[in-house]
Amino acid sequence: MARPRYYVTTPIYYPSADLHIGHAYTTVAADAITRFRRLQGYDAYFVTGTDEHSQKVERSAAEQGMGPQQFVDGIVAKIVPLWRALHIAYDDFIRTTEPRHVHAVGEIFKRIQANGDIYLGEYAGWYCTPCETFWLERQLDAGKCPDCKRQVELVREESYFFKLSKYQQRLLDHIAAHPDFIQPASRRNEMVSFIKQGLEDICVSRTKLNWGIPVPGDPKHVIYVWFDALANYITVLGWPPGGDLFQRYWPADVHLMGKEIVRFHAVIWPIILMALGLPLPKRVYGHGWLNLAGEKMSKSRGNVIDPIKLVEQYGVDAVRHFLLREVPFGADGDYSEEALIRRINVDLANDLGNLVHRTLAVLERFAGGRIPEPSAAADDGQLSRQLAATADQVAAAMDNLALQDATGAIFRLVGAANKYIDREAPWDLAKDPGRRERLHTVLYNLAETLRAVAVMLSPFLPEAPARIWQQLGLTADIAEATWRDAATWGLLEPGLAIQRGSPLFPRIEIEAPKAVAQTALPEAAGALLDIEAFRQVDLRTAVVVEAERVQGADKLLRLQVTLAGEERQIVAGIAEHYRPEDLIGKSVVVVANLKPAKIRGLESRGMLLAASDATGLAVLTPDRPVVSGSEVK
Ligand code: ME8
Ligand code: MG
Repeated sequence: MARPRYYVTTPIYYPSADLHIGHAYTTVAADAITRFRRLQGYDAYFVTGTDEHSQKVERSAAEQGMGPQQFVDGIVAKIVPLWRALHIAYDDFIRTTEPRHVHAVGEIFKRIQANGDIYLGEYAGWYCTPCETFWLERQLDAGKCPDCKRQVELVREESYFFKLSKYQQRLLDHIAAHPDFIQPASRRNEMVSFIKQGLEDICVSRTKLNWGIPVPGDPKHVIYVWFDALANYITVLGWPPGGDLFQRYWPADVHLMGKEIVRFHAVIWPIILMALGLPLPKRVYGHGWLNLAGEKMSKSRGNVIDPIKLVEQYGVDAVRHFLLREVPFGADGDYSEEALIRRINVDLANDLGNLVHRTLAVLERFAGGRIPEPSAAADDGQLSRQLAATADQVAAAMDNLALQDATGAIFRLVGAANKYIDREAPWDLAKDPGRRERLHTVLYNLAETLRAVAVMLSPFLPEAPARIWQQLGLTADIAEATWRDAATWGLLEPGLAIQRGSPLFPRIEIEAPKAVAQTALPEAAGALLDIEAFRQVDLRTAVVVEAERVQGADKLLRLQVTLAGEERQIVAGIAEHYRPEDLIGKSVVVVANLKPAKIRGLESRGMLLAASDATGLAVLTPDRPVVSGSEVK
């Protein structure tokens, strides 16, 4: 019998700058979803890639004095190792500059033009380069892009148009008939009201750019980047003409993406497919944003966190676990290193790591380091019942792409096993030779729970599950395990010899301050300040959004901070103590009403507070997240 199939995609990312943990968020989620389906026995296919023909790529390349192809090749050469570091098991990686894609997009354009849904006209309107989106005058928000609130550019040029308007009603009917087509439901409602406002035909070509796929037969035009990019989901399967891969996997089960690009996937993409006479994807899912100090992390804003550094420092399991567990998948959430460390300590060290450590310790002490024989008569059934319930919850959560609930359910089982060990107290049972059967059954239950938990966690965490299996003495490869191994109680064979190893997840201690010489307080009473004088100093919190070294000045960093919605430049003498990338996203305290000063020709509007001692400087930061611009008093 043919296995059920499952096709998952991520957006193809713009290689206009290095990717950050926002991109890792989607890609890790897609990977976990794919691995989960594979565990369940699906024939799953997973694709990601890069969207290389955008105007912003052309501009970023020009800024670096490179040709666009050379520029994107450089970025892509770093994306591949990034996905490897995060254990992303994609089946294909599509680049829109590859001949297979370029050729296919030309074909798609021709076919739609031939059936009359693409026609030549003239466009006069606005264009937002960061969003690569055309806007009509009336859609602008006070003259700015309504999506990202940045500057738009006037465009007037001959252009090919695509007849969205013709398909408006068909699209609304499709959405009504397929309630799961756009998810979460809040995004579906937004889309429906957007479509009901009326779809206008859109431009699908540009003449002012060279970097793009030429319009067949009219090469002074290049195809609009979104038309080109969306097609990747079928060109990667070889359509047109569409052979075995396409037959096997289309329509996609899930197109995964951030909420800001749902509109393209829920309007333009289905209409392209309708115009081609192809089936629509089953589900378009727009997850929330990962924010840094309340603002969307983004390449164009530059307030980004590099996932490679996090993996190097905390390990791939920790980073993936944080991304999957911290925030409900449909909602926005904040990234902070404190939150990441808290997740590692609470879930991975205190719960999972501790359960493994304690289980192995009691197996060693009270069962001679072997998995003991359980007895049905001495069993309480607590953990086996909870395992069955957990397996159902995880499977149901994954059907809804509720990744946080899925991992949450597994960690509830881990928590229950930790409580079980406390409650059943094997160390007490061991004192009474008459309770040996009971002791062995309790120990077996703990080990068996861990065996199954490791399988359940394997789609989410690439490293720890295999180590747990190894430590339990299992020699089979966990990569070969199936969902049945996760959901079935009692598969662990008594007699296996455990292999204790190093702790899975050591707790991360925030470094204790080193003892250093203290600076004496001033003694002179005459130097005391009255409170009114102190109040004249306007101290505020601010968030660092950009940081860079000042050319030719070893001690200076140029910081861009936001302070209650206002951006300011501050030049600070901290370059010997902080790397620019360590400061981005940090909440700091500044003197906000200092007279502007020129430092090395740069205006500085404010001063950053830092403590100093013999070991160096420490920038002051609030103890918990506060709104930027908060008064400090
Ligand atoms: O939009 N939080 O590419 P892109 C969560 N090329 N997810 C984030 C994120 C954040 N702060 N930042 C980025 C494009 N993402 C187009 C797509 S598809 C046919 C073409 C993730 O490089 C999220 O998935 O701007 C978002 O939709 C995507 O990266 C945008 O990547
Ligand atoms: Mg973007």
